Amino acid sequence: GQAQIGVTGLAVMGRNLARNLARHGHVVAVHNRTAARTRQLVEEFGHEGEFVPAESAADFVASLRRPRRLVIMVKAGAATDAVIEEFAPLLESGDVIVDGGNAHFEDTRRREAALRERGLHFVGCGISGGEEGALNGPSIMPGGSAESYRSLGPLLESIAARVDGEPCCTHIGPDGAGHFVKMVHNGIEYADMQLIAEAYDLLRRVAGYEPGRIAEVFRTWNRGRLDSYLIEITAEVLGHTDAATGRPFVDVVADAAEQKGTGRWTVQTALDLGVPVSGIAEAVFARSLSGHGALREAAQQLPGPVRPELHPDDAAQFADQVEAALYASKIVAYAQGWHQITAGSAEYGWDIDPGAVAAIWRGGCIIRARFLDEIRAAYAGGKPPVTLLTDPTFREALERAQNAWRHVVATAAQLGVPAPGFSAALAYYDALRAERLPAALVQGQRDYFGAHTYRRTDREGSFHTLWGQDRSEVEA
Ligand code: 6PG
Repeated sequence: GQAQIGVTGLAVMGRNLARNLARHGHVVAVHNRTAARTRQLVEEFGHEGEFVPAESAADFVASLRRPRRLVIMVKAGAATDAVIEEFAPLLESGDVIVDGGNAHFEDTRRREAALRERGLHFVGCGISGGEEGALNGPSIMPGGSAESYRSLGPLLESIAARVDGEPCCTHIGPDGAGHFVKMVHNGIEYADMQLIAEAYDLLRRVAGYEPGRIAEVFRTWNRGRLDSYLIEITAEVLGHTDAATGRPFVDVVADAAEQKGTGRWTVQTALDLGVPVSGIAEAVFARSLSGHGALREAAQQLPGPVRPELHPDDAAQFADQVEAALYASKIVAYAQGWHQITAGSAEYGWDIDPGAVAAIWRGGCIIRARFLDEIRAAYAGGKPPVTLLTDPTFREALERAQNAWRHVVATAAQLGVPAPGFSAALAYYDALRAERLPAALVQGQRDYFGAHTYRRTDREGSFHTLWGQDRSEVEA
């Protein structure tokens, strides 16, 4: 075989990835369950590079140069296992199977272990950037063995997005590390989107701006510290007019947000790891709430505050405060995401470099932003910060933003505009800062009803108060 790499699964992501590889001068074997798609790819895009179409699994494998590198681009779940089972028997020791879908990292760990037993490398590989990214340069997060990266890495790096000449691709860590990091990327993506949506809602309902005006505000923000792909596309969406009705597009779209599940996985995993990702969780819940039509309809009758309208003269100042609140909340969401990455890395022994993750998210992926340079810098020093919040750059930004942030959250609460992302982020910030938390009282409650014991601030050991008797304290 002469192909350097093969792609099986030629729906839009797989097709675009194959084209990206071919455009970079690699000979790419292509295969799809239904051969019509394979033929169509070669007909339409054959001129872009060198494709080797294969109709059968055997032909596909035979067309690959050894060690074979085979990328699976199918819908995450049962289809992935089916494709692995189809190809694994045809492969030989040292060959590499890459799963480029949004797989759950636990599935990836399972598949990696099973294929390792059979002498094959399995690389769970996060790929971000949507269809456009897959074609023109995604951010790529491969897991799997270091050995597999030696053979696969140069190929992936050649097709990844580049920032300052550096490819947005690095070996994340063994087995499921790549898919874990991609999962957290998506959790952060959900949080980022929710925070931007809340900023829009506040500008609309509190400042009284129309969508077109808000698009302008976002364009201005996008020239500053909030410069990011998500802010950029938000301005485009808000500036768009529905052709059929002539109304703002955002006003004709049903307000029920959907999800394919990666944000939910982030929160489920965070709960298991004991990592408080409240900002990400609120984003997942906000999507879920928006979809509960019956609940929302029933609640329409509930009273809200008597709204003192914001004076139009104060709108511009409020918009600036929303920008500060958005930036501060964004710092919190990312700090939570990085906490999860470091906790996952420790739990599974992945040794993930948190600064390298920031570096490869600067380009190609959905959350790409100028901001990620700061996160990378925060981890570049000798001793990594315990939390991103205390990195000097972020600490200073939070200090400058905090008054505006508090004002925005308070105003939202007073005027009855939901801002779960902003509020959760602020609560996390204040909770971490607090010298004492009411968790002490919760411990007392647990000890009272269940003799669950507590520790003391002044002495080692576990204690229990005999609540039902004389309330003396015993050492447990
Ligand atoms: C990416 C995206 C992508 C994800 C979509 C849709 O990094 O390119 O994260 O992988 O599938 O964003 O996600 P939801 O349907 O869950 O919103």
